[in-house]
Amino acid sequence: MRKLGIGVLGVGEMGRRHAENLRRLVPEARLLAVADVAAARAKEVAEELEIEHSFGKLEDMLALKGIECVVIATPDKFHAQAIRSAAAAGKHILSEKPLATNLADAHSALDAVSQAGVHLQVGFMRRYDPAYSAAMKRIEAGEIGEPVIFKSIGRDKDAPPISAYQSQLNGMLFYNNTIHDFDLARWLMRDEVTEAHAYATVAIRPEVAQYGDIVAGVVNLKYRRGAIGNVESFVQSTYGYDVRTEIIGSAGSILVGSFQQTPATFLTKNGGTQTLADHYLTRFADAYVLELRDFVHNMLNEHPPRVTGEDGLRALEIAVAAENSYRERKPCGVSQVAS
Ligand SMILES: NC(=O)c1ccc[n+]([C@@H]2O[C@H](COP(=O)([O-])OP(=O)(O)OC[C@H]3O[C@@H](n4cnc5c(N)ncnc54)[C@H](O)[C@@H]3O)[C@@H](O)[C@H]2O)c1
Repeated sequence: MRKLGIGVLGVGEMGRRHAENLRRLVPEARLLAVADVAAARAKEVAEELEIEHSFGKLEDMLALKGIECVVIATPDKFHAQAIRSAAAAGKHILSEKPLATNLADAHSALDAVSQAGVHLQVGFMRRYDPAYSAAMKRIEAGEIGEPVIFKSIGRDKDAPPISAYQSQLNGMLFYNNTIHDFDLARWLMRDEVTEAHAYATVAIRPEVAQYGDIVAGVVNLKYRRGAIGNVESFVQSTYGYDVRTEIIGSAGSILVGSFQQTPATFLTKNGGTQTLADHYLTRFADAYVLELRDFVHNMLNEHPPRVTGEDGLRALEIAVAAENSYRERKPCGVSQVAS
């Protein structure tokens, strides 16, 4: 069987999982190398995964014989630059979300990809989650009629350490987290968002404001064909990693998401409990594997990726509109932002 030669850039929490999946659970992939600006970390991951090559620089990994494709899992602010470098070297790319943290970077990354004639997929792995993809199939089959309302909730469990804000390496909440819901908002509704009206708060952690970030946000959406939507994001639910989405149509509704990680409810003298997922690596474990398998298969067979750079750009445009709306305290047109 021909295998796709792959290198992973940035092997922190997410990149390590991608590398591990590629090494063990994606039969059509051959993980050749990992690279990380923390070269010792790259070496450690390479040893753990029993692969030969580790690098401190992307350029050195790109020069390695056999690398056909790069998975990018650096912090958000470095995605666009890494995409440009990998594209210039003629490699196919799977980049973590967001595509970039501003539109200028996003466009320059997409230009580099199209000039090089390589493929780019953006890591909106929720599209591969079995529950979300089952919902999409039913929407496509017309089971809920014409979608009218989109609602999505994304809550992380634990508040990020203040150092995560201080480093300024990732985009603010709308770019780093809500972007998944913005992608679902387009994909599941099969329509484009034209306007965003955001409210956000730092009330329970005011020190976050000085880093330009927020603790929670709600974003109302308007769609081209007349549908409406609402997305809520919160960085510290404390009780679990809680991701839920509802698509309400003219003929019914689909609710994706559950409070239960395991299909069991535990009843004791203190009351009932359920085991909630506490982290995205648990909740979306299958999706991350399916995402890589599909990407690798498409690259080997010269098919376009299922989630494109254009999808990355459209979701980013909604995030930019949401941020502008929040800062300017008024609704903001998404297409106006894009032009
Ligand atoms: N799709 C998802 O569900 C999901 C989940 C978590 C994270 N992410 C995304 O994955 C990316 C990484 O997140 P994380 O939580 O793994 O972060 P992390 O901080 O745990 O890991 C980032 C790694 O990148 C390395 N790095 C930093 N700058 C670099 C550079 N310029 N070149 C090479 N390596 C560099 C760091 O040393 C670190 O090892 C982020 O963009 C994040 O938004 C996506």
